Amino acid sequence: MSRRIETSADLRAWRQSQAAAPGFVPTLGGLHGGHQSLIQRSLDENEQTVVSLFLNPTQFDCADDLAAYPAVLDDDLALLDRMGVAAVFVPSHRALYPDGFAYRVVETRLARELEGAHRPGHFEGVLSVVLKLFELVRPGRAYFGEKDWQQLQLIRGMVDAFFLPVEIVPCPIVRASDGLALSSRNRRLAPPARERAAQLYRTLCRSGSADEAIEALRSAGFAVDYVVDRDQRRLAAVVLDGVRLIDNIPLPTQQARLPGGS
Ligand code: PAF
Repeated sequence: MSRRIETSADLRAWRQSQAAAPGFVPTLGGLHGGHQSLIQRSLDENEQTVVSLFLNPTQFDCADDLAAYPAVLDDDLALLDRMGVAAVFVPSHRALYPDGFAYRVVETRLARELEGAHRPGHFEGVLSVVLKLFELVRPGRAYFGEKDWQQLQLIRGMVDAFFLPVEIVPCPIVRASDGLALSSRNRRLAPPARERAAQLYRTLCRSGSADEAIEALRSAGFAVDYVVDRDQRRLAAVVLDGVRLIDNIPLPTQQARLPGGS
């Protein structure tokens, strides 16, 4: 049975009773197959795994987006129990923000671009809560999905900048059979939109350039926030039927583009 912990004091006490640093998977709840792959990886690589379920309000720039986030705590807890997670941290807002978010982590470059440009303050909320969680859990390894590519780079940067003693483990995107990247937001897509949503991944894979991808996505009825090539990846954010979706794919390397490259 997973141990359910709700306060920072109880989490610190539990952590002190553990000889080895646990693996850690922070989440907003609403667990899906993507989360399960991170948790399974942590279970495979660490003696103990801690998962946090905390719908962090400071990273939502839009109240409707926060309100629409799936609240399925009982299902999440039952899943974590079945998977064999040692401890589940389910803090209240007050438990994590005794300062009312007066103190926060600000990154001044990458956090202002792409997702940060479209969701002002988003990464301040993400980095602040992740730093708090790292301090309480003190994990040896922490697992993050590559779907949130920019988030992953910023968390790595924060770990380097503040000399945090944790290894960040990037985990591949998990996709549905039609290619759509798994996300808690997918549940909000009505069936016809859910079917069309798979075009995002297909378009990113098939288009020659980022501009061609933008063109094709717009013709298919997506509102495009951005499609850009960066860090050898094509990163995209779109809105379909009021639901914002992000995705990214690795770009072929120069070598693979040359005749005879594989
Ligand atoms: O990726 C997420 O689910 C969230 O941004 C995280 C890392 C749990 C912080 O709230």
